[in-house]
Amino acid sequence: MADLAVGLLGKVLKNPVMNASGTMGYGVEIEPLWGIEKMGAYVTKGLSLKPHHGNPPPRVFEEKCGMINSIGLHNIGIEAFFNVYMPFFKKKDLPVIINFFGFSEDEYVECARYIKPHRLILALEANLSCPNIKAGGISFGKEPESVYRLIKKIKSVTEIPVIAKLTPEVTDIVSIAIAAYEAGADGLTLINTVPAIHVDIENRNISIRGGLSGPLLKPIALKAIRDCSEKVPIPIIGVGGIMDWEDCVAFFMAGARAVQVGTATFLDPYAIPKIIDGLRNYMDKKGYSSINNIIG
Ligand SMILES: Cc1cc2nc3c(=O)[nH]c(=O)nc-3n(C[C@H](O)[C@H](O)[C@H](O)COP(=O)(O)O)c2cc1C
Repeated sequence: MADLAVGLLGKVLKNPVMNASGTMGYGVEIEPLWGIEKMGAYVTKGLSLKPHHGNPPPRVFEEKCGMINSIGLHNIGIEAFFNVYMPFFKKKDLPVIINFFGFSEDEYVECARYIKPHRLILALEANLSCPNIKAGGISFGKEPESVYRLIKKIKSVTEIPVIAKLTPEVTDIVSIAIAAYEAGADGLTLINTVPAIHVDIENRNISIRGGLSGPLLKPIALKAIRDCSEKVPIPIIGVGGIMDWEDCVAFFMAGARAVQVGTATFLDPYAIPKIIDGLRNYMDKKGYSSINNIIG
C-alpha cells in the first residue's frame, strides 16, 4: 500500500490532508461522523487574542460556483481554545496548526507570543486577509512591505514554525510570497477566499458581502501554487476548491506539499476521509510509493 506520510515543517504527518481553517469548527463537531485523527493535521478556526463575535447573519450563501461566507472571524479566543479544546487533540495525538489573526500588528504578535511550543503544535498559520484597522481597513496581506514587517515581528516572538496564509486579492501573489519568505516564514498556505457579494434581485439589495470559496477557486489556487513554488523554496500548503481526490492530486502536481479542504465538507461531511482514501487508491494504482513522487 502507498505510504501517504509526508514531512512538513520538521514533523512527519501520517498523510498530507487537513481541513481548511474555519470550516470544521473546533474539531469536536465532526467526531460523531468520523475520527478526526484520520487527517494528517487539524487546522483551527481563526483565533484571536480576545474572543470575537463576528458578523450578524446571513453568514453563508450558496452560489452556483461556490459559497460566500461572512463569518467575520467569530471565535472564542486563543486562551479558551487551549483550555477547552486542546485536550481533545492531545487525547487524539493529532498535530494542530493554529490559524490566528489580529486587527493590528500588536494583536498578531501577542497572539503568537501566547502560544507555547508543544509537540503537537505543527505551526502557527497567520491569516493575512484580516483588515488592519490602523491602515484604514486594508488587509495585511496586500502589500509586500506590510507582510514582511508583520511576519518578521511574529517570527521574533515564537520558536514555532510560522506559515503565511495569503490572500489572492493582490496584483502579484509571488511578490507577497517572496516578502513572507524573506521575513522568515517557514511555509505558505495558498489561498484564502476571494471577496464577493450576492445581489438579491427580489429585494434589490446586496444580501451578503464576504469571501467566495469552493470549486471556482481551484484554478486560481493552482496557478498561485505553481508560480510561488518556482520562486520560493519553502513548503506550500494548497487550499481552494478541492472537492475530490482528483483535485487533490492536481494540487500536489502543481507543487503543494500538503492540502486543506474546506467548502467540500459543507456539501459532504465525509469529503475529507473520501479524499484520503481516493488519494491512496490512486497512488496504489499508479505504483507511486510516496507522495514525493507527485509533488511538483
Ligand atoms: C465558513 C468559512 C470560514 C472560514 N474561516 C477562515 C478563518 O477563520 N481563517 C482563515 O485563514 N481562513 C478561513 N476560511 C478560508 C478557508 O480556510 C479556505 O482558505 C477557503 O475557504 C478556500 O478553500 P475551500 O474552497 O476548500 O473552501 C474560511 C472559509 C469558510 C468557507
